[in-house]
Formats: sequence, C-alpha cells, structure tokens
Amino acid sequence: MSRLVHTRIGAQSIRIRVTRVSTFDVLLLGGGGREHALARCFAADPAVGHLHIAPGNPGLAALGTRHDIDAADPDAVVALARDLGVEFVMIGPEAPLVAGVADALREAGIDCFGPSREAAALEGSKAFAKEVMAAAGVPTARSRICETIEQATAAIDEFGPTHVVKNDALAGGKGVVVTDDREEAIAHASTCGRVVIESFLDGPEVSLFVICDGERGIPLLPAQDFKRVGDGDAGPNTGGMGAYAPLPWARESLADEVMERVVDPTLAEMHRRGTPFTGLLYVGLALTTRSGLQVIEFNVRFGDPETQAVLALLETPLAGVLRAAARGELDTVPPLRWRDAHAVVVVEAAQGYPYAPLTDCPLQIPTDDTNAWTLQAGTTEVDGKLLSCAGRVLGVVGLGAELEEARSAAYAKLAEVDFEDGFHRTDIGIPH
Ligand code: AMP
Ligand code: GLY
Repeated sequence: MSRLVHTRIGAQSIRIRVTRVSTFDVLLLGGGGREHALARCFAADPAVGHLHIAPGNPGLAALGTRHDIDAADPDAVVALARDLGVEFVMIGPEAPLVAGVADALREAGIDCFGPSREAAALEGSKAFAKEVMAAAGVPTARSRICETIEQATAAIDEFGPTHVVKNDALAGGKGVVVTDDREEAIAHASTCGRVVIESFLDGPEVSLFVICDGERGIPLLPAQDFKRVGDGDAGPNTGGMGAYAPLPWARESLADEVMERVVDPTLAEMHRRGTPFTGLLYVGLALTTRSGLQVIEFNVRFGDPETQAVLALLETPLAGVLRAAARGELDTVPPLRWRDAHAVVVVEAAQGYPYAPLTDCPLQIPTDDTNAWTLQAGTTEVDGKLLSCAGRVLGVVGLGAELEEARSAAYAKLAEVDFEDGFHRTDIGIPH
C-alpha cells in the first residue's frame, strides 16, 4: 500500500511516495538456543510488529517481551495468544507439538507454524515414522519394533554389530545408543519400554530442514550436527554439540534429491492419511557408501543447534515465510536468498552433560560482533546474575567467507566466554 504525501525540505515543498508495510505480532514458544536464533530473525524482520516469547531465556529479553507460561499447555498458550492479540505463533520445541498446542491454536483460528499432534508423531514415535516411511517408499534403515527384552535381544542378534537401539518415546535426542558392545545394546533396550532396533547406517550425516505447508516444502541449506559429546565423536550421544552450514563437500543436487525421494512422498503420505504435515520437517540423513541416502530419523521442529548456523545465513525475512506455510500458501513465497558465507555454531555445555549437568554455575558472556555472537540456551538470571540451568548453556555462532574462517570466528568469540564449569568440543566445523 502506498500514497503520496507533501513534505518540506527547507523552503521547498516536495511530494514523496510513502509505502506502509503491514506488520503482524508474533508469539514464539520455547526458550533454547534455537529459539534465540529464531528470535534474532524475527526481531530483524520488518514484517514483525511486536515479538512476544514464552517462556524464553535471559538472552531473549532484549529481543521481545517474555511471558512466563508453560509453553506445552494448550489452554495457557491459546489464552496468552488471545490476550496479546498476536496474529502468528511459532512453536520452537517438540514438547508443545506433541501436547497438541498447534491443534488448539488452529481451532482458535490463530495461524501457527508447527504440526498437529497426530502429524508430530513423525518425531514422537519412531515406530510411526518407520510406518510412514515404508508406506511412502522412503529409503531408511531396516528396523524391528520390539515390546519385550526377548524380542529386542533377538533383533539385536539378527542385525549384528554395530547395534542401533532407540527408545520409541521422545528422549530429547538422547534415547539412542549406537554401540559395538552387545551387552550395552541389551542393557539400553532393557531401560526402554517399546524399543526400535535398526540396522547400522554408515557415512556422513546431514540435517536438512524443510518448511512445509501441508502439501509442499521449501528446503533450507543442509547442515551437519556433532551429536557425540567429545572430540572425534567420542562418548555418548547428546542433543548436539555444534553444527555448520552449508556443506562444502556435499553435491549441489542433494536438497533436490531429498525433496524428491523423501519429503514429497512423505508429505503426500501424511496428506493421504488425513494428517497433513504443516511445520518444519527435519530430515536426518546418512549418505551411505552402499545404498546412497537413507533417512536416520524425522523430527518435526527446527534442529538445535543446526538452526543457529543455518539461520545465520538466511537473508530472506523468515516470519513471512513461516506464516505463509502456516496458511498453506508456500506457493506464493519467492525463492529464499542466502548469504554467500559459512556459519559454525559451537555449543558450550555444563560439566556433566549429557548425564548430570551442573547447574547454578555463574557465567559471563562477551558482547556480540557482526561476524560472531552468543546465543543463550540453558541460562537463567538470579538477582541480576547469569547462571547455568541446563546441559547446553550457550551457542557461539561464527560467520566467515570460508568454513575455516567461520570456525575461527566462533572459537575466538567462545574464548571470551567466562564459564568455569563449562566445556565444548574443539573440532566443530571440521567435516565428519
Ligand atoms: P536419532 O535420535 O534417531 O537421531 O539418533 C541419534 C543419532 O544416532 C543419529 O544422529 C546418528 O548419529 C545415530 N543413529 C541413529 N540411527 C542410526 C543408524 N541406523 N545407523 C547409524 N547411526 C544411527
Ligand atoms: N541437533 C539434533 C536435534 O535437534 O535433535
């Protein structure tokens, strides 16, 4: 919308054309590093009027207004969204999705980005994801769904080492054990209820995020996550210790191939079942030596910490794209624009992570630069002091023209973090 107005410069009267950009208010749910990255995008987006965040974290206070509610309580979220009069709700983590927050918002007539509870089972139940992949002809590891430890032991022996044992329930990325040790595999299976035993997939892993509107998807840049806690991929799996994007070693056609072989058939199958998928489909892939690309898992939300690297490179304002997806209108969205650069994010975790992270440890974070900045995740503020409150405490993002430059920028900024009880991997951003 634009109109002509008269104005004066000195003694001269001129006419200028004024364009009014219509804005919308946004409520962002969640409080981790991923949400800090999303909030940075929203805060810089000219289409976003006011940004509200629930519950957020201390790092988000500068970017919007925080609200202290349980983001996984559908009634509380709908009430807050109505009170605030927001036009769009972005759901960050999986817990609200599995709890049906997206369903409740849609029923209330509020646009929201995130799948329905039924569609969120693509992440919430590994068994359901396998069933959809089989029906859609999506390449993935062979698997057995086991209800008893006897069945699990038989499947572990059938597939042989390396053993892959997955808790069927949501476990924050920590319910999977990959090991050559049969006893360890059986021990993990015995701690789960329903368990999925899989054949082992070799090859580098890729995370591809796809913004979906129920019928079609738009892929973001491929990224690589570092799941194990220690350098050289040593130690147990975590939620993710760092990431980088894009992947200089990956073929250019990779995203197109994943769309054709994985995402389009999955969206069609979900549609056929009457549970169309609207939200972020996170495709975790292995590029195997023998059988090409194979899906390791689906998640139904932006990955953490890959999002922190991917969104650092996105030039297109994000909120409008997500809202178009929420409204089933991705066909109206022009191609995304990306910075010609690389991004690395390194996670600073609290000692003891992933099993028993120390909490309430003081930390201080440095000021941001244009090529390196800190995102908060497991932090809380008590009497004006910043303290750790979860396993993954910070993510430090570095940008550079080359991957190595981005890596150096992230590690140089991380060296300025003052957190005695923290640790990080030193090999994030080295392709693996
Ligand atoms: P998931 O929770 O399914 O993403 O699994 C966590 C991590 O376990 C993945 O990122 C992989 O590193 C590893 N993993 C899971 N499934 C397999 C598999 N079938 N073969 C090899 N590694 C796997
Ligand atoms: N980075 C892995 C995840 O978000 O599950």
